[in-house]
Amino acid sequence: MSADIRINAERLWDSLMQMAKIGATPKGGVKRLTLTELDRQGRELFVSWCKDAGLAVSVDGVGNIFARRNGRAAGAAPVVSGSHLDTQPSGGRFDGCYGVMAALEVARSLNDRGIETELPFEVAMWTNEEGSRFLPVMGASGAFAGVHTVEEVLSGRDVDGIAFGDALRAIGYAGAAPVGGRPLAAYFEAHIEQGPILENTGNTVGVVTGALGQRWFEVTVGGMDAHAGPTPMHLRRDALLGASFLIQEVNRLGKATEHARGTVGMIANRPNSRNVVPGETVFSVDFRDTDVAGLDRMEQGLREASARIATEQRLDIGVRQTIFFPPCHFDQACVAAVRAGAARLGYRHMDIVSGAGHDAVYIARVAPTAMIFVPCEGGISHNEIENAKPEDLAAGCNVLLQAVLAKAGASSFL
Ligand code: HGY
Ligand code: MN
Ligand code: MN
Repeated sequence: MSADIRINAERLWDSLMQMAKIGATPKGGVKRLTLTELDRQGRELFVSWCKDAGLAVSVDGVGNIFARRNGRAAGAAPVVSGSHLDTQPSGGRFDGCYGVMAALEVARSLNDRGIETELPFEVAMWTNEEGSRFLPVMGASGAFAGVHTVEEVLSGRDVDGIAFGDALRAIGYAGAAPVGGRPLAAYFEAHIEQGPILENTGNTVGVVTGALGQRWFEVTVGGMDAHAGPTPMHLRRDALLGASFLIQEVNRLGKATEHARGTVGMIANRPNSRNVVPGETVFSVDFRDTDVAGLDRMEQGLREASARIATEQRLDIGVRQTIFFPPCHFDQACVAAVRAGAARLGYRHMDIVSGAGHDAVYIARVAPTAMIFVPCEGGISHNEIENAKPEDLAAGCNVLLQAVLAKAGASSFL
């Protein structure tokens, strides 16, 4: 029976720890930015493992990697599972990598048992989920789902002006496979929760029913460079001062309702010299909420505050939207398969909404999709101290195996 099948927890943990060595940081985290040499090394290791597992590897035009395990219905739409290998600049060992390694472990475990599924099974690795080096965030899964054009993704530039497409070619992962345009029978993504709810409630598995909507902006505050000594305070057009008022407003807007979030994570200040009144400050805004009305409220608040502060401080303030996606609701049948898997295996589980965006949010637009969360220590992520328990990671992977078998169908070996 499929209920007694278990993945190899030691092999899963070992793969995670081996991958974590690529970009390892002194504090125990991982810095493996997308489309860098370290990303290339991580991809090479992942591809070698896929080939060792007998999977057929293909790469598409935005660097997404697919490793296919055939099923009896060879040409049928596959069940797919995966996540991302790129990390934040001060990222952890599990964000993204866990979902890729868990999907690979499912393939390895099916091999161990000689299980032939009805539908093919594919392990997916999506390029640039984090959006830390290139916008758009989740750009490559977005291109696969038709949310972004391939050209839009390839033309994105990092702070040094390097184009995504050039960086992709430089690491040798500008693949020939078409981007998207093919059916998937289902998509599952295993991920650490990146928040405290599962740990605080004593649940091992999160049955993810959907994700918050997100709206990101780039705010440019223009003032006037001036000498910090001779320039009287009342005559200054201080861009960083104006930005500081707006940053407070983003925080106030985020606190206004229970599920809302408002974050300023990135800032560039020019000329950034100790004795010069800043003439330009550019910063990011990340708004999230459970409904579009909440996102609209926060956008309106930001734009109104920008207009007011521009007048009060004699500044030029531009607010440019860079990312938008509405709240996402996952496929009920796939969510039920995750929930049934957790129940069958006897894991304490609960329904949960993801505060983070994931590739699954975009893949949900083109395939029945659901996610599986496991706890992370203290709910901490996007931080080098990110940690998770091997037994929880194994539990989530066992549930993933159950959900994949439920959707892909399996041979009489079960
Ligand atoms: O920002 C997010 O929610 C994800 O980590 N890209
Ligand atoms: Mn992630
Ligand atoms: Mn992340």
